[in-house]
Amino acid sequence: MAEPRLAVRRKNRSSLERKRSRAPAQPIAASSPVARKRPSGGGEGAPAEAPCTNDSEEDMFGDYDSFCGNDSLVAQVDDIEHKYLQDNNMDVKAAAEMVLGNLQSGVHQKEQDNSSAPENVVVLKSDQEGACQMRDSDPADGNQELTESILDDLPCSQLLYFEKMDELFSASRTSPVSKGQDECVNSSSDKIRDPLTFSAGAKHRNRPPDSSSHSKCVSFKTESLKDHLKSAMTGNARAQTLQVSKTKQLKEAVLSEEIFVARKVIESSSVDIGPFYGLPSKVKDLFRQLRGIETLYEWQHDCLTLESLQQRRNLIYSLPTGGGKTLVAEIIILQELLCRQKDVLMILPYVAIVQEKVRGLSSFGIELGFLVEEYAGSKGRFPPVKRRVKKSLYIATIEKGHALVNSLIETERIYDLGLVVVDELHMLGEGSRGAILEITLAKILYTSKKTQIIGMSATLNNVGDLQKFLQAEYYTSDFRPVELKEYIKVRDTIYAVDSKTENGFAFSRLLNFKYSSNLEKADPDHIIALVTEVIPKYSCLIFCPTKKNCENVASMVCKYLKKEFRAHKEKEKQDLIKNLKSIGNGSVCPVLKQTIPFGIAYHHSGLTNDERKSIEEAYSSGVLCLLACTATLAAGVNLPARRVILRAPYVGSDFLKKNQYKQMIGRAGRAGIDSAGESILIVQERDKHLVQDLVHSPLENCYSNLLLELSKGMQSLLLSLVGLKIAVTHEEVDDFMCCTLLGVQQQLVSKEKSLPEIIKDGLENLIEKGLLKGRISQEDHNSKSTLTITPLGKATYKGSIDLAYCNLLYRELKKGLEGLVLESNLHLLYLSTPYDMTSTCSPDWMIYLRQFNQLSAAEQKVADIVGVPESFITKKASGQAIRKNVDNAVVNRLYLTFVLYALLKETNIWSVSEKFNMSRGYVQNLLSSAASFASCLLHFCEELEEFWVYKALLTELTKQLTYCVKTELIPLMEVAGVLEARAKQLYNAGYKTLAHLANANPETLVRMIEHLSRRQAKQIISSAKMLLSEKAEALQEEVEELLKVPTDIPGTH
Ligand SMILES: Nc1ncnc2c1ncn2[C@@H]1O[C@H](COP(=O)(O)OP(=O)(O)OP(=O)(O)O)[C@@H](O)[C@H]1O
Ligand SMILES: [Mg+2]
Repeated sequence: MAEPRLAVRRKNRSSLERKRSRAPAQPIAASSPVARKRPSGGGEGAPAEAPCTNDSEEDMFGDYDSFCGNDSLVAQVDDIEHKYLQDNNMDVKAAAEMVLGNLQSGVHQKEQDNSSAPENVVVLKSDQEGACQMRDSDPADGNQELTESILDDLPCSQLLYFEKMDELFSASRTSPVSKGQDECVNSSSDKIRDPLTFSAGAKHRNRPPDSSSHSKCVSFKTESLKDHLKSAMTGNARAQTLQVSKTKQLKEAVLSEEIFVARKVIESSSVDIGPFYGLPSKVKDLFRQLRGIETLYEWQHDCLTLESLQQRRNLIYSLPTGGGKTLVAEIIILQELLCRQKDVLMILPYVAIVQEKVRGLSSFGIELGFLVEEYAGSKGRFPPVKRRVKKSLYIATIEKGHALVNSLIETERIYDLGLVVVDELHMLGEGSRGAILEITLAKILYTSKKTQIIGMSATLNNVGDLQKFLQAEYYTSDFRPVELKEYIKVRDTIYAVDSKTENGFAFSRLLNFKYSSNLEKADPDHIIALVTEVIPKYSCLIFCPTKKNCENVASMVCKYLKKEFRAHKEKEKQDLIKNLKSIGNGSVCPVLKQTIPFGIAYHHSGLTNDERKSIEEAYSSGVLCLLACTATLAAGVNLPARRVILRAPYVGSDFLKKNQYKQMIGRAGRAGIDSAGESILIVQERDKHLVQDLVHSPLENCYSNLLLELSKGMQSLLLSLVGLKIAVTHEEVDDFMCCTLLGVQQQLVSKEKSLPEIIKDGLENLIEKGLLKGRISQEDHNSKSTLTITPLGKATYKGSIDLAYCNLLYRELKKGLEGLVLESNLHLLYLSTPYDMTSTCSPDWMIYLRQFNQLSAAEQKVADIVGVPESFITKKASGQAIRKNVDNAVVNRLYLTFVLYALLKETNIWSVSEKFNMSRGYVQNLLSSAASFASCLLHFCEELEEFWVYKALLTELTKQLTYCVKTELIPLMEVAGVLEARAKQLYNAGYKTLAHLANANPETLVRMIEHLSRRQAKQIISSAKMLLSEKAEALQEEVEELLKVPTDIPGTH
């Protein structure tokens, strides 16, 4: 195992220092509030404050924007300065006041309510006096304590800088050059002499010796005034916060300065790297504080310093599960946001993982001044709000990532996207979601050559194909910080997986257990023996083939466990049951009620999201020590497991794939959580040879899925290519398709037809369906004739509607216009019930009839209108034969509509799932699918004028379906990862709005809210702050837009 080593090399650090001292555009000394305030402590004019030791909690929000990144602002300052400084004799301070007065309205929207010129000047003054003290005060005076505490908080790059400044400063007292400059400044204004003098010293070092003293004087004056303005504005930005922590201010100033320098370093495309991979040292501190990461692994360092990354080439990297891939991606993301000032899209496979990432990165966003925006489920704005200052990190599921990219291409903003990161890149080969990922990446590659793409995965095989597709470099290593030992168990023998032996397995040990004959019967696979070697001291995951099997295994194990297991963390386990009870509105699943006292639970998609979250949290904190789970826990989740047991080499009834196997066993031994890890696959004698293949075969290849399900992916790609005007002739479409993974793998994927033939068929089909217009026949040599999209085609791709349903959907909506029943939302709900869930639904006819009978007469009419007559339901319920031809898909769809209708009425998943005899997880899944579909439907209707009336109706319905809770909880549930149960707790404790949450104190929150750890409390607060900030910024953008003076007002030219 490789030794982790210190990430920040001295060489690199000093190279950044070199860069810093060279960077001419930022006169560090004068602009840095740190430099001004370091020795002053509670100097006159500055608010006297005790040094704040715990300032990471306070003032994190809304008090800081970086001005450095705003070139237009600096240019504005330059212009105005130029205007007022034309007269060399003009008092510089007066000029500053005028400048501030001019800029006030344009620059500081935030300050509109309370800022005024005199206030600005006060800030300016205090800054000057701080700087003045810096020169005059004795370093050994009473403020030393504060100074030291401040310096403790500073990154070492900054301390080095101070050392240099101090040297320079003492030199300037005696230097004739600096004296001359002093005089020069004094002739302009005595009042702001000190900061200017300080700046002069810094400036002097960078200036060529032959420049004339006059020009020295003027340019130096301009620079420092600009810096004053920046400082003043920074001060104003903070003025609205009542208790401003000084240390915080200093840190922020240092940060903004470091970001500026880092940006310069990156822009200069030098191979030099900054204090922390071109990033401010604060980033390193944050990784330490928030993630507990002290040093980077050697491979992480090597990867981050790859030549190809410096050159912004695309990159695929692959390491074993738990290898620490995320950290590398996050550092590259921060470089893009902070140094290159571009937006970033991060694509993750599941909604829950997106939410977790949003929570995890919000604190970074708040501390470093960028926005984190969630694109999952029905959340996310298309196109995203255009931000003037802050950059955005969009964290998205595959589907939402695709819609986001489409909207950016459509609005010609795709160039704003500097970087796209795809986690679990092997998803490219997984069904229709893989197809969507391929389409997204292909569009980015084709439309924005400058957008960098980074993909990572633990389970890649045919990397060559992927490299070709993404035009990417490849980095790999077999490093895993925690060794993972792989075993299989056959009967009572454990074998180590060992490729050096003849059959691939080496005898390890016999399982040590004493089973009664009863127990032998109940547990023939010795699961109890395997788990009790580990629990309760360490934790253990058992992957089971089916949901039912998870529950059975959990019940069986606890039935035979000794009573002592109950004593372990008894109170916490009782609390967990109480918590689950409140989540379930008074009911708890009987299996969980039985297993949790033993520290055991099951985990699969039949649980509600709230339950899943509680169970995951309890498992992470050691309250539960054993989870029997399905493959839902296999990807990207960081749950601690000393031992992972695979109950059988099956998922459902399919034999396990190598990728799945690797992902499952990869949950064992995660760095920072466990120091060792092992996996045991339980094998029946008959499966032994299959398992041999499984364990020793290479990983599966990743193939394009564009041709899956009658070329569904391909069809929707062709449609959107024309719709977005990415490719509008047959020839251009052919060109584009060569850039897809399908293009790379065409011989492998389709044997019967060539790619051009497939494309031709696809385009013809779209024309036939009325989604495209134009001619594509090659015989007519029309490959250059233009294709156009029809309104229905546009609505279809904009709404991400499955092409199989778009015509049907159109017909149903059209019919709805003639007689939409609006007495309740039942009819609208039917239209919003997702088509693709109907095949998995089999109605219980008695329940169907009961629900039908409870409807009002008008609502019953809806059933008839959509094509399910009452007589049909009655006959079905009474088991009579049916002669009439009724569409099953419609019948099933209406049944699901009844479920949704009950959910919206009762807002209680538990009672609805009981009423319809469905698992609560299924009901929840239906609800979230319906929410997504309703939002797709809304986008569909927005494109078709005739459906204008649906827009208002669907907006409201989407909201209801998204949250499906009492209205008062909605603002709290908008915060990433705050689910219903938590929202209720928060609401009842008095946290009723987003602002309440954003301004909460984490300690109080932990005290008031049951089962909330400090870490969770901080994450909730950070996410709320981020959301609030994002909303406020969006409104500000709107104001800006509204007040913008048009350039083409008649008569002004
Ligand atoms: N340099 C480091 N020092 C200490 N811990 C680290 C370091 N880098 C990553 N980790 C920790 O290692 C664990 C696994 O990292 P991560 O989730 O990035 O793995 P991964 O490579 O993405 O695995 P998977 O393929 O399973 O998703 C995390 O808990 C992470 O905090
Ligand atoms: Mg990962």
